[in-house]
Amino acid sequence: MQNQQTHYMKLFPSQTYINRRNTLKEAVGSGLILFQGNDEASMNYADNHYRFRQDSTFLYYFGINQAGLNAVIDCDSGEEIIFGDEFSIDDIIWIGQQETLSSKAEKVGILNVRPANGIDSFLEIARDKKIHYLPAYRADNLNKLSQWLHLPGSKVNQEVSQKLLMAIINQRSYKSEEEIEQMTEAVNISGQMHINAMKAVKPGRYEFVAVSEIYRTAKASNSYLAYPAIFSINGQILHNHYHGNKMQSGRLVLNDSGAENEMCYSGDITRTIPVDGKFTTRQKDIYDIVLEMETSSIDSLKPGLLYKDIHVNANRLMLSKLKELGLVKGDIEEMTNLGVGGIFMPHGLGHMIGMDVHDMENFGEQLVGYREGLERSTQLGLKSLRLGRELEKDFVITVEPGLYFIPDLIEKWKADKIFTDFINYDILKEYYDFGGIRIEDNILITENGSQILGKPIPKTTEEVEETMAL
Ligand code: GLY
Ligand code: MN
Ligand code: MN
Repeated sequence: MQNQQTHYMKLFPSQTYINRRNTLKEAVGSGLILFQGNDEASMNYADNHYRFRQDSTFLYYFGINQAGLNAVIDCDSGEEIIFGDEFSIDDIIWIGQQETLSSKAEKVGILNVRPANGIDSFLEIARDKKIHYLPAYRADNLNKLSQWLHLPGSKVNQEVSQKLLMAIINQRSYKSEEEIEQMTEAVNISGQMHINAMKAVKPGRYEFVAVSEIYRTAKASNSYLAYPAIFSINGQILHNHYHGNKMQSGRLVLNDSGAENEMCYSGDITRTIPVDGKFTTRQKDIYDIVLEMETSSIDSLKPGLLYKDIHVNANRLMLSKLKELGLVKGDIEEMTNLGVGGIFMPHGLGHMIGMDVHDMENFGEQLVGYREGLERSTQLGLKSLRLGRELEKDFVITVEPGLYFIPDLIEKWKADKIFTDFINYDILKEYYDFGGIRIEDNILITENGSQILGKPIPKTTEEVEETMAL
């Protein structure tokens, strides 16, 4: 039957899942923990689905990459149950022979599998117990929670278990060796996506032609994209998913794309390349600022440092280099503290990454990237910093400084007379057609420093030019 298989599921050894659940049970202590898997999501009619993506927390504790599952852990009795249906012959006619759900469950150490609809009565009977659950980010799961917990939909996400959230964040934030192996694979596939896209960039070609290399390369490693590719000559538009422009000579192209590998671990890589295969002097000047912001940030990473401080340091460096180019003037420290850099880099320096490209963002950025006593700034740039807290060993994070010339924003600040003592608006006018530059890598925090995951991906202007010439 091997060659009739239509679905293959890669798993860690069962002990990994058993250990993860045991740690969680101990941290939560008592009550029931409810895990919602994802269902298929329809695209334009019921049977035509978007690509199925299992919920990351469900994958972390139960590993089974299949729609229509929920699970419960009883912290008091230790009982662990997966609710889901075996495929019927009617299903198998359409989707082929499948490994049974009980067999998959056994591989992750779960021996108790019950029919999908059993969860309704199970939760009804358990109503007097504390039910710990997570916020829902899909409407169908929110509706189910509303029914099961007898709560109005508007209340469901407000009454989630903070204890459960913190316990999971405390586990998933620290990547194990077997996870690092998966993440390294995701970065290596992402690197190949970037190299192939670099080679496909030519003046006069449409962006989508190069973008097709990104998708093809991911698929050639049996992977998907961790998020829709950001690939554009308009790199100053931070999350630009339009790929219909002709790549004109003289422009830069910003490529922010990453693979999600077979086990659903993400890569998140950005490179910025010249359409002509050669950087102009002006492009190189700005590029080298971003590169230095990236490498000096990475070099400074180590446990104990506030990531917010690394973001601010990168901004300080950017402002001092822009001052050398005459784009800003005045005292660097004052500009740094006031947030003048926000006009050039209106986003954060990075975020946690794991199975989710913005890892665990469904739990809330404050809980994952901040802590009590460390609030988010309201300054442009810092307010979008997803990770502000102290770094710890085994975190995997992105470092992604950028420098953009956003004509709408510059015009607005100029009209509002914002930071006129510091910003040379007249000189900035010359950069309105520049676009934007971002450089992004994925970094493991180690005991004394950090390590960039994966094989090196062309990054210096020389390396990028050499790759584009291949
Ligand atoms: N790819 C989205 C990000 O860099 O955060
Ligand atoms: Mn990115
Ligand atoms: Mn990122």
